[in-house]
Amino acid sequence: MKNLLKPGWLSLSPLKMKLVFTGLVSLMLAFTAPVTWAEEVELDAPELACLKCHDKDGLKMKTQKGEVLPLSISTKAFATSMHSKTSCEDCHDSLDEKEHGKVPSSVSSKREFTVKMSDTCISCHKENVALFKDTVHAAMINGGSEKAATCSDCHNSHTVTSVKLVAPIDQVPCARCHEDIFKAYAKDVHGLERVAKGKTAPLCNDCHSAHEIKAAALGDALKDSCIKCHKDAAPSHEKWLPNSALHFEAVSCPVCHAPDAQRRVNLRMVDSVGGKQLLEKRGVPRFERLIKTADGKEVGLDEKELHSFLKEFNLDSDGPKAILSGRLEVRSGVQAHQLSEKSKALKDCKVCHQYGATPFQTVVLTMAGPDGRTMRHSVEKEVLGSLTATGTMKGFYAIGSTRIKLLDYLLVLVLLGVLCVPIAHLTANRLFKAKREQLKAASNKDQS
Ligand code: HEC
Ligand code: HEC
Ligand code: HEC
Ligand code: HEC
Ligand code: HEC
Ligand code: HEC
Ligand code: HEC
Ligand code: HEC
Ligand code: HEC
Repeated sequence: MKNLLKPGWLSLSPLKMKLVFTGLVSLMLAFTAPVTWAEEVELDAPELACLKCHDKDGLKMKTQKGEVLPLSISTKAFATSMHSKTSCEDCHDSLDEKEHGKVPSSVSSKREFTVKMSDTCISCHKENVALFKDTVHAAMINGGSEKAATCSDCHNSHTVTSVKLVAPIDQVPCARCHEDIFKAYAKDVHGLERVAKGKTAPLCNDCHSAHEIKAAALGDALKDSCIKCHKDAAPSHEKWLPNSALHFEAVSCPVCHAPDAQRRVNLRMVDSVGGKQLLEKRGVPRFERLIKTADGKEVGLDEKELHSFLKEFNLDSDGPKAILSGRLEVRSGVQAHQLSEKSKALKDCKVCHQYGATPFQTVVLTMAGPDGRTMRHSVEKEVLGSLTATGTMKGFYAIGSTRIKLLDYLLVLVLLGVLCVPIAHLTANRLFKAKREQLKAASNKDQS
């Protein structure tokens, strides 16, 4: 984030300010002893000087935009916060000490204030700031978003408590902006477990990593986070799901674990060398421009249109070629957070392995936008068959394609239970039969 990198953030507060506060301090000390709270945290006089005015209910001001900015800070909450040993001035270093509180301050808007104040964190939390720069929220803010989260949206500097404390789930900062997802999560298998048992069950940041949040559909980070806690997932699925590793690649976990979710095929545009999802550069909107050319009627790309889109896209790029990698996923963010207990999970192979299977009736083409968030365009479902036939598609097959007919046949064998075990059995039998006959022949020879 360029805001956080501008020179000058390291500079200490103006000396003048210090002097004035020292003056205030001596004044204060003349009348009051330092306040001590039950938790034995003592605030220094400069902080108390600020709080003398600011620990008042209803203190507020208007921004230039006309919004109300509340200005009350609770001394008690601050004294028991993780920042109790940090001075107000460490973060508020640009107040004009002579005029402050007497002359109206100028704050252009609440949003600008929040973003500007978040720049101060870097002097003490370099690691978090460095990580945060690569998140989808930071990318959105760089792109001019007023709605994405920055440090102060998720942390109240005056009341922040230790992350080791288990707060009630509705206090998770994400809930305010992702309300629908929060509501779904709160009622799913993890939300209920979190309420019942606390820290062992995941909260938003256990899966999304608050300072490393990437667009959800990008990469495998979320799947990996599931497997970090559910270490046995791969072997336990392997017991009934052939090639579970391949299924985990091609089917996102919520597809089976949110039983009522609607499913669809996502054709991700990835680079043909590293297999990574392609990311649109800021200011160079190739995806939307070329889609518009290919799909003039905006009804979804048909087979020919998709092929010409891909051809144009690759002609237009200097990097590795774009190919498609298919994945089954759920259709909305809410559905991704409606995970159920295992007895309700999807186990019926036919839901996917059958001609005309529902999950394959909706198809989208996606690429990552400049902020990492998914850009989508719909594609006609018939396209799936032709893609696999021409080899444009990597590591995925679709119902109705040439490959699926073979797979369906394999599947029937798997279902009948005659594929793996019996073959091994048969082979062993044959080997042993040969050996037995050899031995028999040898012993016959000996006898004769
Ligand atoms: C004499 C009372 C008083 C003292 C002491 C005081 N403030 Fe204020 N402060 C105010 C008032 C009044 C406003 C609102 C000004 C307005 O209405 O425009 C304000 C506004 C603010 C604002 C928001 C506007 C801005 O300029 O950023 C911040 C932040 C702030 N004070 C922090 C502090 C800090 C930190 C200290 C101690 C170093 C402090 N104040 C000391 C009275 C005071
Ligand atoms: C660790 C950094 C930090 C410390 C220490 C700190 N503040 Fe703040 N303060 C902030 C940030 C960040 C904001 C902006 C919050 C937002 O987005 O509105 C803020 C906002 C404010 C505001 C505006 C009202 C509000 O809550 O947004 C006042 C008033 C204020 N601080 C006073 C104080 C006083 C008084 C102290 C010392 C007792 C203090 N601050 C200590 C970081 C800090
Ligand atoms: C989208 C919300 C969000 C944003 C934005 C965010 N944080 Fe956090 N942060 C969290 C959550 C949630 C935790 C608690 C993690 C946990 O429980 O382990 C946390 C933990 C922390 C911690 C304590 C644990 C640690 O990792 O060191 C610090 C310090 C911190 N954040 C600072 C920052 C700073 C500085 C920024 C801005 C660069 C920032 N955060 C931006 C949500 C956020
Ligand atoms: C002058 C230094 C300083 C600045 C500036 C500062 N912090 Fe802190 N912060 C601290 C200290 C010291 C702690 C206590 C750390 C500890 O004891 O592990 C802390 C703790 C935290 C924690 C809780 C960490 C935990 O382990 O639970 C969060 C969250 C946090 N700060 C967020 C912020 C945010 C957001 C900003 C910017 C608005 C900010 N801090 C600015 C010094 C600072
Ligand atoms: C200040 C508001 C705000 C807060 C707080 C916030 N977010 Fe966001 N977040 C947004 C906005 C706006 C977007 C972009 C719109 C969207 O995708 O919903 C976004 C996008 C995201 C995305 C990418 C969505 C995609 O397209 O894949 C994820 C993941 C995300 N947030 C997770 C979180 C998590 C987890 C937290 C809490 C640790 C959090 N957010 C806190 C506003 C916020
Ligand atoms: C093809 C559907 C399908 C996919 C894909 C799938 N699961 Fe499952 N999963 C199931 C079914 C069905 C069960 C219940 C198995 C049983 O009856 O024991 C289950 C059981 C589980 C359990 C319960 C304990 C256990 O290991 O048996 C966990 C945890 C789990 N899955 C996590 C995951 C994770 C994490 C992913 C993604 C990496 C995933 N699942 C992908 C269908 C699926
Ligand atoms: C158990 C892990 C887990 C937890 C807990 C979790 N998420 Fe997610 N989240 C996911 C998965 C998986 C996806 C979907 C990824 C995909 O497309 O395959 C997702 C997707 C998202 C998206 C993108 C939605 C979209 O429109 O594409 C947002 C935003 C989001 N989560 C926010 C949150 C918030 C806020 C919370 C807490 C209330 C939360 N998540 C809790 C795993 C989790
Ligand atoms: C922080 C650890 C953690 C993460 C991350 C996590 N889970 Fe869980 N999960 C749990 C706990 C704890 C439970 C409840 C106890 C149990 O059944 O194992 C649970 C329960 C489940 C269950 C129900 C199991 C049953 O026995 O009925 C499923 C399914 C599941 N998780 C899937 C997932 C998926 C999919 C993801 C990733 C999107 C994920 N989990 C991420 C900890 C986690
Ligand atoms: C949610 C949809 C879904 C369910 C349910 C499902 N599969 Fe699959 N399966 C797929 C997808 C998608 C692939 C394609 C993977 C690829 O080619 O990249 C696949 C691939 C396969 C393969 C080919 C593996 C290989 O090595 O190439 C077999 C065999 C298979 N599935 C058997 C089963 C069986 C048996 C079940 C039920 C126990 C089942 N599947 C349940 C979606 C599903």
